[in-house]
Amino acid sequence: MRVLTVAVLISGTGSNLRALLDAAAEPGFPARVVVVGADRQADGFAHAEEFGIPTVMVPFRDFETREHWGAELRRQIDVWTPDLVVLSGLMRLLPADLVDAWAPALINTHPAFLPEFPGAHGVRDALAAGVAETGASVIVVDGGVDTGPILAQERVPIVPGDTEHTLHERIKPVERRLLIDVVRAIATGEIDLASYAAASDAP
Ligand code: GAR
Repeated sequence: MRVLTVAVLISGTGSNLRALLDAAAEPGFPARVVVVGADRQADGFAHAEEFGIPTVMVPFRDFETREHWGAELRRQIDVWTPDLVVLSGLMRLLPADLVDAWAPALINTHPAFLPEFPGAHGVRDALAAGVAETGASVIVVDGGVDTGPILAQERVPIVPGDTEHTLHERIKPVERRLLIDVVRAIATGEIDLASYAAASDAP
């Protein structure tokens, strides 16, 4: 069985990364994480280290432009020749040329039911909107902000008294399940990312 190689990019705690690492450790899972990257010293690196997976840190602040940062990130990630790059809580927009280079083998998890509540504050924005339910999505990254084709998504109810934290903590397990399902489906060919090649162009 051919195993899909995956790079995961994070900025924070990496709980979704952790779930993917746990899934990939199961016998027969058709994908494995080959490198974890971040734009800062992310807490989630600890998960990669526990699994003996290499990490690369390319601090956004060390570069004069987003394009320069992206070029260095690409250089360091491409060393591992991943079949797929997963943005799992990377809180930076990738420059367009990097999206072009990796898409359509570039996916993103998002804590809302896209196209509702895109952007950096999907959970907060759903709460502020006063809606009864939000959700989680996994998408192919395109040239926009959370505008790419949706690969999987599921609704999550908002309950009275929810804070941004409690709601996000209820969304994350759904995100993890969707992410693992999508990575598995890409690995087995059930999802054919090549069919999204044109759609990954800027909208
Ligand atoms: C996840 O909910 C992810 O979808 C979100 O950040 C969280 C990271 O959690 N990403 C975005 O909001 C991107 N716009 P984690 O570091 O614990 O996996």
